[in-house]
Amino acid sequence: MSTKIAVIGGTGLYAMMGGFTKTHQEIINTPYGEPSCPLVQGKLFDKEVVFLARHGFTHRLPPHKINYLANIWMLHKVGVRQIYAVNAVGSMNPSCPPQSLVLPDQLIDYSWGREHTFYAEDLEKVVHIDFTQPYSEPLRKTLLQARDNTGLSVVENAVYGCTQGPRLETAAEVKRLQRDGCDLVGMTGMPEAALARELSIDYASVAVVANWAAGIKDENISMAMIETALQQGMLDVETLLTEAIRIGA
Ligand code: HPA
Repeated sequence: MSTKIAVIGGTGLYAMMGGFTKTHQEIINTPYGEPSCPLVQGKLFDKEVVFLARHGFTHRLPPHKINYLANIWMLHKVGVRQIYAVNAVGSMNPSCPPQSLVLPDQLIDYSWGREHTFYAEDLEKVVHIDFTQPYSEPLRKTLLQARDNTGLSVVENAVYGCTQGPRLETAAEVKRLQRDGCDLVGMTGMPEAALARELSIDYASVAVVANWAAGIKDENISMAMIETALQQGMLDVETLLTEAIRIGA
């Protein structure tokens, strides 16, 4: 049997993935509480694929309220071994304008107060996972091959900074992120990536640029701008992920 693959993304992404056949939808209980929503399970190109709407089906969960532990534990429990995570971001890199797709290869975590590890208590000994390369290189390679096959333009490397939200950043905060070497800023990339690593699940992120980060342009950021850019970007995400799943190991 092929590897079970999960896509973590926005509500309704699975409905957009041409060829995906939904077989069932399941509420899964976890020792860490409730996941964001029931898991949509099905098939794409004979591969078992599951979809998780990170913010819930009705987009009710802000980034800091998402139960990342329950979500990742649930995916592991149903046998998922590869995760493609879709993350909306602001950009501070001129090569990554709104609507573009970017594959981060590094991250810096600025989030705080989130439950962020499966290794918190009841330990026989303290566990430190290696996180030098936070994203799976094999999954990134598959995404790059999918980019080449589809002819989409996808930026290959970026540093993702994860802020706490739900507010957007100040211009000075974005300047600090730039000084730190960040190209992108989002709110949902952590602790998700680290939790997947703790359970040995391959994890890669496809970042969709929703806006220029605060202060990069001489304008404020509106939800309308973000939504327009995301709508177009998500069409490309769907094409990229469909191809990645088709060709992936
Ligand atoms: N900052 C943080 N998260 C985001 C942004 C942003 O500008 N845009 C979309 N998600």
